[in-house]
Amino acid sequence: MIIAETIQEVRDQVRAWKREGLSVGLVPTMGYLHEGHASLVEESVRQCDRTVSSVFVNPTQFGPNEDLETYPRDFEHDCALLETKGCDLVFHPSVEEMYPDGFATYVEIQSEMPKQLCGKTRPIHFRGVCTVVSKLFHIVEPDKAFFGQKDAQQLAIIRRMVTDLSMGITIVGCPIIRESDGLAKSSRNTYLNEAERKAALVLSQAVFLGQRLVAEGERDADRVVAAMSAHIAKEPLARIDYVSAVDGMTMLPVHEIENDVLIAMAVYIGKTRLIDNFSVKL
Ligand code: PAF
Repeated sequence: MIIAETIQEVRDQVRAWKREGLSVGLVPTMGYLHEGHASLVEESVRQCDRTVSSVFVNPTQFGPNEDLETYPRDFEHDCALLETKGCDLVFHPSVEEMYPDGFATYVEIQSEMPKQLCGKTRPIHFRGVCTVVSKLFHIVEPDKAFFGQKDAQQLAIIRRMVTDLSMGITIVGCPIIRESDGLAKSSRNTYLNEAERKAALVLSQAVFLGQRLVAEGERDADRVVAAMSAHIAKEPLARIDYVSAVDGMTMLPVHEIENDVLIAMAVYIGKTRLIDNFSVKL
């Protein structure tokens, strides 16, 4: 596996692959990789001839009081995992490589979409995500890029950006990977102490409860959200940021469950903010 720290090295290698007629998949990550990321790499390896993964903790998507400084990092472990999964190149740039002196250009979706759900408490988050992801797309020029459904709003926003800017990249959404007890895999799970780890199960339990209600025929989105919220509220270590039902494409609130509804939540367990969701495809 090649480890590249500069944009030029990545471009040279990807262009050499393209000259051989090989297809290229990209898995963007912020490192501290777990089985969720591994599943994205596996999917890229299945669908593309060569796989590039980026490991970059992107400062522009963190707000001033968020966990940029403490975000967990373990590049050696990341490389070991990527190599076993069949990744061909890991791009590990410095902040200066990605954001040179005088950097002043951002990519931002000008609709309500990035202001909903996580955007309510993280107002600059999706501008940072769109900016770094479009930079990665320009650097790697992949045929396909792979993102987890756990970050459902991010996935919807990236699809919007790719369509709006005619980027010609196929976006592949991959299922949420869970621990055996249901907790969605996340690099931030590492912040949880033992009691919080147990308490964090209310998120997946709420997801399973919501899925069951919908499967049983409930079509009132407010009732599903209320039942999920009530379940989470029983856990003393949990504080709800939001539990919401939105249109799967626009992220705007819905009250009825029809095709393509996303039911998503963000919940603080102690100081750690975790997200989870499920999509309804009728
Ligand atoms: O999902 C993430 O880990 C990040 O938001 C991404 C897409 C790698 C951009 O920094």
